Amino acid sequence: MRKTIIAGNWKLNKTCKEAVELVTELNREVSQVTEVDIVVCPVFTALRDVSDVLVDSNVKLGAQNLYWEDAGAFTGEVSAPLIKDAGAQYVIIGHSERRQYFGETDATINKKIKAALAQGLTPIVCVGELLEERESGDTEKVITEQFKGSLAGYSADDVKRMVIAYEPVWAIGTGKTATPDQAQEVHKLIRQLLADGFGQETADVVRIQYGGSAKPENITELIQQPDIDGALVGGASLKSDSFAQMIKNCIAVAK
Ligand code: PGA
Repeated sequence: MRKTIIAGNWKLNKTCKEAVELVTELNREVSQVTEVDIVVCPVFTALRDVSDVLVDSNVKLGAQNLYWEDAGAFTGEVSAPLIKDAGAQYVIIGHSERRQYFGETDATINKKIKAALAQGLTPIVCVGELLEERESGDTEKVITEQFKGSLAGYSADDVKRMVIAYEPVWAIGTGKTATPDQAQEVHKLIRQLLADGFGQETADVVRIQYGGSAKPENITELIQQPDIDGALVGGASLKSDSFAQMIKNCIAVAK
């Protein structure tokens, strides 16, 4: 059995004060939830403040990115040891917005995963196809390439410490969710890639999240799919009531 994991990707939103307000409200509703793993990923500058609210909570903290070197002359970057120091246990790596706007490639993502694992952070490794890639029938090829490139050189034990997020780029922030069948098809492919590359035992335990306009109204159907183990949530994680509702809907399915 894989435990459902719901992560909120707050992207470039919320001041420290707003982040603390949001996580305080959320915590009030779900801090004692044990059936589902819950993660929130604020901007770097709010990590510490949010971490302080989450002491004794089951809600865990994640960052949205990292740089692969630990320290040194890398102006403007934030490293895995610093993220850990700020209280985080997770880090999103290779989000499509990073690939699209900041030139991230499978090769840089691969290095970032290594840095995260070295600090004991759980990487949430993102893959996903563009609309034109889906329309030209290249989804399987693109996902396979991203998966293999991002995870090249890792052992089964390493991969067991990761979460994979399938986020079709055309569904992110657009209101267009992949249908449960469309999502399941790609999740199944990723599960097969895990089995082929790292063994069936690994494929059975690694959680694969869906991301792209996930919300309270569609989460139940999505996570009922056999290979969908949770969600990486953007817009709907910015309000405590909608994010908490998604968690509650997942608990109802888990039962
Ligand atoms: P969205 O974003 O839920 O707003 O579509 C998801 C993501 O990019 O992680």
